[in-house]
Amino acid sequence: MANAEIVPVGINDLPLIVELYNEIFRPGREYAFFTHRLGTQRNPLLLLATVQKRPVGFALGYELKQNTFYCWYIGVLADFRRAGVASQMMEAMTAWARDQDYQTIRFECYNRHRPMLHLAIRQNYNVVGIRYDADAEDNLIILEQNVNEEAAD
Ligand SMILES: CC(C)(COP(=O)(O)OP(=O)(O)OC[C@H]1O[C@@H](n2cnc3c(N)ncnc32)[C@H](O)[C@@H]1OP(=O)(O)O)[C@@H](O)C(=O)NCCC(=O)NCCS
Repeated sequence: MANAEIVPVGINDLPLIVELYNEIFRPGREYAFFTHRLGTQRNPLLLLATVQKRPVGFALGYELKQNTFYCWYIGVLADFRRAGVASQMMEAMTAWARDQDYQTIRFECYNRHRPMLHLAIRQNYNVVGIRYDADAEDNLIILEQNVNEEAAD
């Protein structure tokens, strides 16, 4: 375990998350991309992961529909991977979603995001569908977790 500290942060810390995003994902995104999406969705959640006070990862999500919370992005800096940081963030998101009375967390993932697919299975997510993303010209796998269900293993 990385023993990361996972904290919910406010919109004031979004620049830090955008910086992490741009270190982790390609292509990079402008600040406005995030403010626009998060500003137009219900109940946004911003999680920051720090190790020895250094920001190393983030997760972003928002309400998709009454019972379902959507995990939009999750990322960890390359040097801090395979130490349980993303697992800690997903567990924190699950606990938070349960507290907020959501029943399901959903996210979508391309086949090429293999580590994320491995992680999702470890975190007790089920594959519930697939949809074609015309912009990316690629399939997206849809995964869901029942936040009230214990992991099987
Ligand atoms: C996906 C990602 C968030 C995982 O972060 P992480 O902190 O390394 O994940 P964890 O350490 O919590 O992994 C937990 C388990 O998931 C599985 N897993 C994670 N990365 C894996 C990999 N590269 N290969 C195989 N299994 C992997 C393993 O079962 C792992 O447990 P183990 O290390 O004990 O074997 C990270 O690789 C990342 O930021 N990738 C780039 C961004 C991305 O693709 N995000 C997803 C799309 S939004």
